Amino acid sequence: MQNVHKKNIQPTGLVCSQSGQVRLFAEDEAATLKIGKQLGKQLKPGDIVCLYGCLGAGKTTLTKAIALSLDIPEREITSASFIIIAEHYGSLPLYHVDLYRLENGGVEDTGIEDCFGNDGITVIEWPERGESIIPSERINVRIKIEQVGRIFEIESPRPLYF
Ligand SMILES: Nc1ncnc2c1ncn2[C@@H]1O[C@H](COP(=O)(O)OP(=O)(O)O)[C@@H](O)[C@H]1O
Ligand SMILES: [Mg+2]
Repeated sequence: MQNVHKKNIQPTGLVCSQSGQVRLFAEDEAATLKIGKQLGKQLKPGDIVCLYGCLGAGKTTLTKAIALSLDIPEREITSASFIIIAEHYGSLPLYHVDLYRLENGGVEDTGIEDCFGNDGITVIEWPERGESIIPSERINVRIKIEQVGRIFEIESPRPLYF
């Protein structure tokens, strides 16, 4: 793995490129929000961001930060388990998809394909439950809970800077 970085995230110039992932350590929620904002401001229309990680890893927290970078109020982003797709409108549309409820399949019936390939940004929690229909051209973020803080592993088809 390239670019292993275990200091708190600052403007480091670390690049996440095709050839490798970037690995960032966030010691607390504020650092997670920083990573999310830095990612969010580099997103483009049509981007898909898949957030992997267990319950409480920080997927919704990261989504809040992405929303903020799109001028969407953080309070609009919730983790209501009965909502599968929530649409928000900021500088770009944000489709916040949470597939948690689909533990027994059924992603084909959710309509999430309508989110892909248009001018919005799609952020997906629990993408494991939708792999059959989520396009492979996407940014993957894997969040791991550490004794203190979280590790973020980000993999992207184009360079991203952190
Ligand atoms: N880097 C971090 N270190 C410690 N706690 C964090 C960090 N980032 C987020 N958290 C906390 O972890 C929890 C994550 O919750 P949430 O974002 O709802 O997780 P998920 O959507 O993955 O289930 C929140 O209580 C948040 O304050
Ligand atoms: Mg969540």
